Amino acid sequence: MTTIAVKDAWKAQAQITEATYREWYDRSVSDPDGFWREHGRRLDWIKPYSAVKNTSFEPGAVSIRWFEDGTLNLSANCLDRHLETRGDQTAIVWEGDDPSQSRRITYRELHADVCRMANVLKDLGVAKGDRVSIYLPMIPEAAVAMLACARIGAVHSVVFGGFSPDALGGRMEDSTSRVLVTADEGLRAGRRVPLKANADKAVGIAARAGHTVEKVLVVRRTGAEVAMEPGRDHWWHEARESVAADCPPVEMGAEDPLFILYTSGSTGKPKGVLHTTGGYLVWASMTHQYVFDYREGEVFWCTADVGWVTGHSYTVYGPLANGATTLMFEGVPNYPDAGRMWQVIDKHRVNIFYTAPTAIRALMGAGDEFVTRSSRQSIRLLGSVGEPINPEAWNWYYTVVGEERCAIVDTWWQTETGGILISPLPGAVALKPGSATKPFFGVRPELVDAEGRVLDGAADGNLCIADSWPGQMRTVFGDHERFEQTYFSTYPGKYFTGDGARRDADGYWWITGRVDDVINVSGHRMGTAEVESALVSHPKVSEAAVVGYPHDVKGQGIYCYVTLMEGETATDELRKELVAHVRNEIGPIASPDKIQWAPGLPKTRSGKIMRRILRKIAEDEFGALGDTSTLADPGVVDELIENRQNRR
Ligand code: WTA
Repeated sequence: MTTIAVKDAWKAQAQITEATYREWYDRSVSDPDGFWREHGRRLDWIKPYSAVKNTSFEPGAVSIRWFEDGTLNLSANCLDRHLETRGDQTAIVWEGDDPSQSRRITYRELHADVCRMANVLKDLGVAKGDRVSIYLPMIPEAAVAMLACARIGAVHSVVFGGFSPDALGGRMEDSTSRVLVTADEGLRAGRRVPLKANADKAVGIAARAGHTVEKVLVVRRTGAEVAMEPGRDHWWHEARESVAADCPPVEMGAEDPLFILYTSGSTGKPKGVLHTTGGYLVWASMTHQYVFDYREGEVFWCTADVGWVTGHSYTVYGPLANGATTLMFEGVPNYPDAGRMWQVIDKHRVNIFYTAPTAIRALMGAGDEFVTRSSRQSIRLLGSVGEPINPEAWNWYYTVVGEERCAIVDTWWQTETGGILISPLPGAVALKPGSATKPFFGVRPELVDAEGRVLDGAADGNLCIADSWPGQMRTVFGDHERFEQTYFSTYPGKYFTGDGARRDADGYWWITGRVDDVINVSGHRMGTAEVESALVSHPKVSEAAVVGYPHDVKGQGIYCYVTLMEGETATDELRKELVAHVRNEIGPIASPDKIQWAPGLPKTRSGKIMRRILRKIAEDEFGALGDTSTLADPGVVDELIENRQNRR
C-alpha cells in the first residue's frame, strides 16, 4: 500500500507539525486535565471553569461532564466575539440550487438576524431549556435558527428536510418540541420539496400521538402558496419586522443541553443524541482548526446538510466559532450538471472542500472533463467523511480533483462523537489512501475482540474508545439507560462505536464499516430495523428482513427480504408500492434498492432471523454461509439463493 509523505507545502505553514502532534497527543492522554484546561480557553467563557474532566464509563454509572462549573453562550462565541475584528467579513456564503442565486452575509448581519430570530422565538413562548424543532432546507435561516436557539438557551432538534412527515412528527413528539421552524418549500435540483405541507402533516401526526406543536414559524423560500393556520403559523419575514435586532445572550452552563440530533441504531426507533454546550464547541472548533489546518480568512465548504451532524459541526458551529467564512450549498452535486461542485469552488474561491465518498464516486463516474474544465486553484485541502473511502475514489480525488497538490483528510467520526476523532492532520501525518490514520488529541481508540479482550499491535477488531473526550454525547434524550445500554454495555468500561477497524503495523487506523445492524447508504445512517418496521406496516407484508449490500455509488444499498401475507401475490406492481411505502414512512433516503420475495426467512429454532446468512446472500457470497446447522428449516436458504436479486 502506498504512503504519501507529508509534502513540504503542507508542512510549510502548518499549525501542527509532526513533532507537535506527538507532543500534544502524548500530553492529551497522559494529562487530560491539564491539556484540556489549556485548550478549553479557546472559547470565551462568561465564568471561567475550574473543573475540567469529570467522566466515568463505569457500568451503571456512566456520566460525562466537562468544564462543568464554567458558563458561556455558544452564539456569542460564534458571533459577538468576532464583531470587533471581523464584523464586515463574510460569515456565510450561500449558493442556491439555481446557479444564478447566491448571497453573502457578514458576521454583523448574521448577528442581527440571529438576534431577531431569538426575539421572535421568545415572543412565541420559547424559554431556556425548551426544545425547538427545525425542518429547513439549506438556506442561511437554518444556521440563523440554530444560533438563535443557542442564544436563548433553547435546545434545537434539526430534522433533515428529506425526512417524511411521519419521521418529523415522531421526532417532535419524542423531543416534546412545542415550536417548529420550517419553510414554505425547499428546492433541490430544480424540484420543489413541500416542507410546509409535510410539516402540517407532521404536526397532525404528533397531535394524534398526544403531543401539541403550538407554534410554527415559516421562512419564505420559494414564495409558494401554503396554508397558514391563524394563531399557530407565523411568517418569519413578517415577525422579524416587529422585533429588535439585539438580544442579550443567555448565560449557559457548560453542561446545559445544546442540541438533540436523531440518529439510527441497531434496534428500535432513532435515538435523540444529546450534546451539551461547552465541551461540544471546544471540540467542534478545535478539530475544525487543526484537522483542516484552517487559516484566518479562508473559505471553508462542507457539503453536508445541516440535518446531519456534519452540517452542525462543520457547516455551522466549528467554522463560525473560528471566525471562518463558511459556504452553505442548497443544491446537489450533479445539477445542472456534474461540474457543479468545481464551478462553485471557482466562483467563491473555496480553500477547503469537505464532502462524502458517495459524492466523490458519483462524480468520478461522470468523467474527468467536468472537473478539468474548472480551475480549482483556490483549493488547498480536501476532506472526506461519512463512510469508508475506497482507494480508487481516494486516488481520483487526490490526482484529478486535487492535482496531487492537496492533502486529503479522511475523517472518521459519528453523530455521537460530536466531531472528528480519527483523521490525518495535513502537516503532521503521512497519508495512506483509505486510512483515517491517527487519533486526534485526547482520543484513545482501542481494538477489542468478540470476548472484549484488548488487541495489541497490528490487528482487526471492534473499535472502542477507552476514555472520554469533550465532544462526546452526554446521553440519549430522555433515556439515559438506553445510552448506557447502547454504548457501554457491550464492552464494559469502554465506549463501543459500532464500527469495525484494523490497525496496521504503523499504528494507522482503517475503519472497515459497521459491525451492527446499521447500514450506511450514501453516507447516511440507516437502521435496518427502521426499514423493516416500515415494510411490515404495509397491510400486505407479513415479515421483512433488511440488510446492506455493496453498492458502487452509495457504498451500501438497501436489500429487503419480504414475506407476504397469506393469499397475497408477489407482483412488480406491489414491489413499487412497497418502495413508495417506505419512502413515505421514512423518506427518500430509505428507498429500498432491492426487494426479494421470501416465502420463508432463515430462522433459528428459537425464531431469531439469521441475518448473517441474509447478508451473505445479498452480497452474492453464498458459498461461505458458515454454520447453518441451527436453522429450523435449512431448505429456505436454497430457495433464497435461487431467487437472489443481486447476482454478479
Ligand atoms: C461511518 C457521520 C469510515 C462509520 C460523521 C460511523 C466512516 C458512521 C467515516 C457515523 C470514515 C463516518 N471512514 N467510516 N471517514 N466517517 N463513517 O453518525 O460507520 O452519520 O460509525 O456521522 O459513519 O455516521 P454518522
